[in-house]
Amino acid sequence: MSIAIIVICAYLIGSIPSALWIGKIFYHTDVRQQGSGNLGATNTFRVLGKKAGIIVTIMDVLKGTAAVLLPLLPFFADVQIHALILGVVAVIGHIFPIFASFRGGKAVATSAGVVLGYAWPLFLLLFVAFFITLKLTKMVSLTSMIVALIALIYSIIYLVLTGDFALFILIVILFTFIVYRHRENIKRIKAGTEPKVKWI
Ligand code: G3P
Repeated sequence: MSIAIIVICAYLIGSIPSALWIGKIFYHTDVRQQGSGNLGATNTFRVLGKKAGIIVTIMDVLKGTAAVLLPLLPFFADVQIHALILGVVAVIGHIFPIFASFRGGKAVATSAGVVLGYAWPLFLLLFVAFFITLKLTKMVSLTSMIVALIALIYSIIYLVLTGDFALFILIVILFTFIVYRHRENIKRIKAGTEPKVKWI
């Protein structure tokens, strides 16, 4: 099997627009038309409620995990590619999905899934950090960026301690995607108009 095929698979997995499909199939609603208009888990919670939000979160996380684990499939056994490249490609698919006119989400859940597949202890740390930070800020967007920063700091410490560049490079790329995709949120946070969650 060739590198091109495994990369295409990772992109197609990342491209699955969970929020769009769950919204359209089960709620006859296009989440792009409501709330922040973002094709992600947070906007699904906002527009369609808790059940749909949890399902989309899980699906978006699993896209990243599945992409990183692709090389474990027997028919990809002979492909020489670093799993993290596949994770980054899946996140690119999530941001620019071929199945949703290349207008996707903000990279958070799928990035989390990549971390889950590659370094699950870091995922657990970030999971806990997410809820503590959300409790304090009440803003999912700000929380997402702060948790991405925590991951970046962790990856720098890990690099210094082990000399392993792979995790650091991955987190720098994901951090950049996440901050870039939250440009509008950053403007709203500065203006004091970013929506807050009430349930935490
Ligand atoms: O995961 C995306 C989240 O951080 C922000 O989403 O819909 O509030 O812009 P949204």
